[in-house]
Amino acid sequence: MKKLELKEISKSFSTGGSDTKILNGINLHVNEGEFVSLIGPSGSGKTTLFHLIGGLIRPSSGQIVMEGSDVTGRKGLVSYMPQQASLLPWRTVEENVILARETAGLPKAESLVLAREWLAKVGLQGYEKEHPHVLSGGMQQRVSFLRALLSPQELMCLDEPFGALDALTREEMQHWLLKIWEQNKRSVLFITHSLEEALLLSDRIYLLSDKPSRIEREVIVPFERPRALTITEDPAFISMKRELINLMKSVGSGS
Ligand SMILES: Nc1ncnc2c1ncn2[C@@H]1O[C@H](COP(=O)(O)OP(=O)(O)O)[C@@H](O)[C@H]1O
Ligand SMILES: [Mg+2]
Repeated sequence: MKKLELKEISKSFSTGGSDTKILNGINLHVNEGEFVSLIGPSGSGKTTLFHLIGGLIRPSSGQIVMEGSDVTGRKGLVSYMPQQASLLPWRTVEENVILARETAGLPKAESLVLAREWLAKVGLQGYEKEHPHVLSGGMQQRVSFLRALLSPQELMCLDEPFGALDALTREEMQHWLLKIWEQNKRSVLFITHSLEEALLLSDRIYLLSDKPSRIEREVIVPFERPRALTITEDPAFISMKRELINLMKSVGSGS
């Protein structure tokens, strides 16, 4: 079952009287329970694609289909984790985690029980009643991730969730996400500009060209799950990474 399908999505923005085409006929899909990454250079329109999927803006042409229905321009159907944690500073950690559930009208007491359970699982027991400013960057990203994970929409869209973290914390978060996802198998569309991150986490990867962006290549990631943390040192992993880096260089996408 296809959770999400993008059909021939194009998007242009008009600035200063001229039209700039950002996305040029994007076709991609996410199956039920699949982890799919979208990788492309900065400015290739990845965040724009998420805004289209979230219904914040409309495509110039093309269709967004969820579970077989055309949902182009409809809001509220996906859970979204932005690049910055963007927690509400006046709400406690647990109140931030349940935000999307509250917005969806789910019972608060139940949501709080669930939030506390998950906060403990991600190593944030004891921080439930604190405010976000007390937490480190990595901890804030975990809270932001839980907010997306516990929100009732089935498809999660994560926009470079670890981009702002230092290398060590980033690695820790990748391993943490890998473990959580393998236990829960949500449908995920994950934006990153790191090939290594995409190879570590994904079932499939779409490589985006520079703008006006097309899908340059679809890659099936062959590594078995559950994946060990040492997989990044595996010769097969390293050679696949090298091959994809060369491919991306050859299509002029920078990274
Ligand atoms: N609302 C907008 N109006 C005009 N240009 C925009 C708008 N939103 C994004 N863009 C342009 O679209 C391009 C892609 O942006 P973005 O989707 O943020 O790229 P990415 O997330 O891949 O780095 C950029 O050149 C950006 O300036
Ligand atoms: Mg972006």
